Amino acid sequence: MTMSLVYLASAVGLVQGLKYMGDPTRAKLGNTVAGVSVVVALIAVAWANGNAGTSALSIVLLVGTILIGAVIGKVWSDRVAMTAMPQLVSIFNALGGACAVVLGLNAVYGEGVVNGKFPGVVLILGGIFGGTAFTGSMVAFMKLDGRKLPRPVKAYKHIAQALLLTMSTITVGYLILATGTIPFPTLLLVISITALLYGVFFTLPIGGADMPVLISLLNALTGVATLMAGLLFHDPVMLIGGILVGATGLLLTTQMCTAMNRSLSHVLAGSFRSSRIPTNEVEQDIRSITAVETASLLAFSKQVAVVPGYGMAVAQAQRECFALQEQLRQNGVDLHFIIHPVAGRMPGHMNVLLAEANIPYASVIDMNAVNGKMEYYDAVLVIGANDVVNPSAENDPTSSIYGMPIIRAYKAKQVIVMKRGMAKGYSGVTNTLFDRQNCKVLFGDAKESLEQIITELKRI
Ligand code: TAP
Repeated sequence: MTMSLVYLASAVGLVQGLKYMGDPTRAKLGNTVAGVSVVVALIAVAWANGNAGTSALSIVLLVGTILIGAVIGKVWSDRVAMTAMPQLVSIFNALGGACAVVLGLNAVYGEGVVNGKFPGVVLILGGIFGGTAFTGSMVAFMKLDGRKLPRPVKAYKHIAQALLLTMSTITVGYLILATGTIPFPTLLLVISITALLYGVFFTLPIGGADMPVLISLLNALTGVATLMAGLLFHDPVMLIGGILVGATGLLLTTQMCTAMNRSLSHVLAGSFRSSRIPTNEVEQDIRSITAVETASLLAFSKQVAVVPGYGMAVAQAQRECFALQEQLRQNGVDLHFIIHPVAGRMPGHMNVLLAEANIPYASVIDMNAVNGKMEYYDAVLVIGANDVVNPSAENDPTSSIYGMPIIRAYKAKQVIVMKRGMAKGYSGVTNTLFDRQNCKVLFGDAKESLEQIITELKRI
């Protein structure tokens, strides 16, 4: 009874923590509440095992591994560069999937817990979702980390389809054949290995603009795998955690699909756009601008917008964005932030950074709310964004990002793009925004450029 109450409190804490995370001002509190709830659940598990007569060695092993994991996680999270955060999230997601596979195999090989078809199906689904999430997230990690992965893409799609067919056939066969026809441990091992391979071949061909959908989908798969483990072990915290991660992951996937203008059915069918294929080099007509000129342009504007992107995260320029907003406010200029849902390298990347810099949420404007009236802005500062403002997505059917909704910065009276050189965005597509007459490039690290602009604005 007491244990059930503790589990219930942990579950409620997890849900509440997640709720807080939906509001940038309470996101940190949400993280703490969810973390404390998990720690309480872990202590309760260790306590319950101690009371159930589990050997002292097992308890020591349980507590020891939890502590080792906690220390590794803490050190890793502290040391990771902010720009490598998406990669870290992918690895954590992969570990969740791997846990589900190991737990399932251990349940069968170590404890022999398969009484009837229901636990069998739960174990099979846990193996499929967990295995796919594990290796899929590892490949996603390598992609986010910019590592070179082998081609050819088309062959991988066919291999992935064959593996999916194999897993479906085994699952259906298990359901219709009499129990015991195929030894269950062998069946689970085969399906787990197939799922691990499927994760690799399913993820390898995906890339370019479709990475955000993939990341949230893998996240959802880990959630479903955890849910299966919760069902198997009758563990309410695991079950609720799995439901939350699975459901939020699925919601995020549909949101990312909308952001990329892709249908979920296409995504689930594996019909992704191919990995980034750099477009041919084309001569571009670039006009550059200095920080001093940018400052005077801003000072004589009424309404300005910032479009942040991955480069802002690289430069860690979020606090300078806040300082710019404050300075412009003193100069009588209103500054909005327009965030694209897939800007950066992980869902909500830009929102988190802007919230960290205490930028008021009221000044963050929804892209769909302003895209029809961008002419209203006297100037748009594109800070380290590239793909999300590339007009090719609207007017070049041959482009790999064609169809992706963009922030129509090109419609503003003036556009200033801050970047260090002429590198392309994540998709590898040439940005035709730079050819527009109203667009100028302010070369340099975004943080340094912003500092120079703010200094000049103070002088004006
Ligand atoms: P990107 O298109 O990747 O462009 C980033 C730009 O930042 C580059 O052009 C780069 O140019 C510039 N940059 C880098 N470091 C900089 C610095 N220190 N100072 C100033 N500029 C700097 O970024 P985006 O517009 O945010 O688009 C996101 C892309 O990533 C989309 O294609 C999206 O599909 C993909 N993606 C998103 C996610 C999620 S979930 N959000 C996950 C994976 C992939 P220079 O090097 O020339 O400076």
